[in-house]
Amino acid sequence: MKLKQVCLTGLAATLLTFFAVAQTSNIITVKADKPYAEIQPTMWGVFFEDINLGADGGIYAELVKNRSFEFSKPLMGWKVEQNFFNEAAVTVLNRQDQNLANPRFARVTVNNAITGTLSMTNEGFRGMGIKKDLRYDFSVMYRQQTGNLKLHVEIIAGKNKILASGIVATETTGDTWKKQRISITANDTAQKAKMKIWFEGSGVIDMDMISLFPEDTWKKRPGGMRADMIQLLADMKPGFMRFPGGCIVEGMDLNNRYQWKKTIGPIEERQLIINRWNVEFAHRPAPDYFQTFGLGFFEYFQLAEDIGASPLPILNCGMACQFNTAELIPLDQIDPYVKDALDLIEFANGDVNSTWGKVRAGMGHPDPFNLKMLGVGNENWGPQYIERLQVFQKAIKEKYPNIKLVTSSGTDPNGDRFDFLNGELRKMKVDIIDEHFYRRPEWFFENASRYDNYDRSGAKIFAGEYAGQSDKTVSVENKNNVRTAIAEAAFLTGLERNADVVVMASYAPLFAHVDGWQWTPDLIWVDNLRSAGTVNYQVQKLFATNKGTNAVPALLNNKTLSGQDGLYASAVTDKNSKEIIIKIVNSGMAEKNLSFVLEGYKKLAQQATVTVLTGGGDQINTVDNPFNVMPVISTTTLKGKKLDIVLKPFSFTVIKVGIK
Ligand code: AHR
Repeated sequence: MKLKQVCLTGLAATLLTFFAVAQTSNIITVKADKPYAEIQPTMWGVFFEDINLGADGGIYAELVKNRSFEFSKPLMGWKVEQNFFNEAAVTVLNRQDQNLANPRFARVTVNNAITGTLSMTNEGFRGMGIKKDLRYDFSVMYRQQTGNLKLHVEIIAGKNKILASGIVATETTGDTWKKQRISITANDTAQKAKMKIWFEGSGVIDMDMISLFPEDTWKKRPGGMRADMIQLLADMKPGFMRFPGGCIVEGMDLNNRYQWKKTIGPIEERQLIINRWNVEFAHRPAPDYFQTFGLGFFEYFQLAEDIGASPLPILNCGMACQFNTAELIPLDQIDPYVKDALDLIEFANGDVNSTWGKVRAGMGHPDPFNLKMLGVGNENWGPQYIERLQVFQKAIKEKYPNIKLVTSSGTDPNGDRFDFLNGELRKMKVDIIDEHFYRRPEWFFENASRYDNYDRSGAKIFAGEYAGQSDKTVSVENKNNVRTAIAEAAFLTGLERNADVVVMASYAPLFAHVDGWQWTPDLIWVDNLRSAGTVNYQVQKLFATNKGTNAVPALLNNKTLSGQDGLYASAVTDKNSKEIIIKIVNSGMAEKNLSFVLEGYKKLAQQATVTVLTGGGDQINTVDNPFNVMPVISTTTLKGKKLDIVLKPFSFTVIKVGIK
């Protein structure tokens, strides 16, 4: 009896499935001649913040940590060794009465040192990544009151293997600071080398800005950026670059906020501050994390230009991080903050004869940086944000009506704070609202339709920070795995389908050092020598490099595809490359047979390019195994305007067909 019941139930289920399949079409119609929205050139971009050793110890290629002795502990990162106690001394002195931005320097007194017995060794950020046969440029600012000293510079691996060495000859300079340089070439590769300076002769020398840069920086700029990391950004062809944060814009208190004017000009005059990620997470302390601003606003603008991205600087709005001190500048004292914003626009775009345009030109960039957008505040919230934003909006729009303002909707994409801000911002008719999503993969699937019902005539949306959390937000267990990446891809089809509302999107955070991170997941992981795009990176790159110019309908049973049968799709045409580009996610665990009918053009190329990203849910890319999960490209033949395809289980597929 029981067996019969089971059989009948099984038969009924099979029949039901059969009818369900029979009734549901598996043909997706792409109406390529019915563009309904322009894809903004800015659509897919990057958000850079100095978190996880993103700048210092990251893209900023300086290898010496605490080069100017300004860390809270002045000799942090340095190890002084001397054999005889009275023979020599290293003391850190302070001249803040003369130099507030860079007050400290090291005074080294050498009394008849037996050669090699006094040395200072810098450990680098998490060691120094050194490459065989590469040139390294050492420099030091020094002044020598007396004596005749030689500085021996060595790059050392392990206990005492010398990878490179050279001698810096100094001269007596009295009270004048001079810069001296030498270049040395490494005879081997090391992941965690150190730099040692030892002294020969006798005398007193003051030293500051002790620096070591590799030759192979991005665009070979001296004192520049780590080329492999920047290349990964350039490969994404980002439409915009948001910088410098993030929470570091807000600061723990207002004193710790990011102030762009202190980050430009000669690097020895840029005043270092503690990086707020230094102390933010007790479970991931980074006591040696500071912002030297060797990478400052000029370099950010230049980087954005280099990688073809529209710059999007974010400025403090007069509020410190509301998770920290929530310090506020009173409204009657906010003018300097607003002036910083107006001056920044002039710095970026002003004529070379304007006050700030002249500063930019003096730094080597007479042409404007073509700034079109500016962010006011990061994840600020509440009425206090709105009050301050109103002051910025009025002043900026009066002087620069064409600058689009990016505004904060707070920390979360829903809830009371979000609802309040969303309502107020729309009343203020702001240009762009920045929404942030750190959520579980399920959320990304469930919210792929989030923008389907947004107001089409009001503010545009910037999905400014998103990342699927395989565990939970700020958990150290979060992994950049296939599960999160495919969920993000599904969500991104929803952004692309709504390109009339969503004009920009970026993952966050961007970089993380394997030995120095505070926050995971992150788009790109690095160690001292290597960098790896995560599976999530591959998803963002596939969207960004297949951006197209116009969104067109992709319909299943006359409906947009956002979760039916586990499928999520969007389609664009590209009027420049003359292509139809379809993006589709199969979130199911079984293959799916589908057909696409491409309507609207008489002649199509008969070969389609099909790029598939898939893998086991837990699979990840790492610096040891960077290409573990990669898009696989193949071609398939159309039958007239029809393309049959088998979607892999749990996959993201990009299909490209040429229009003839
Ligand atoms: O991306 C890390 C942090 O997350 C950003 O600094 C902040 O905006 C958000 O809370």
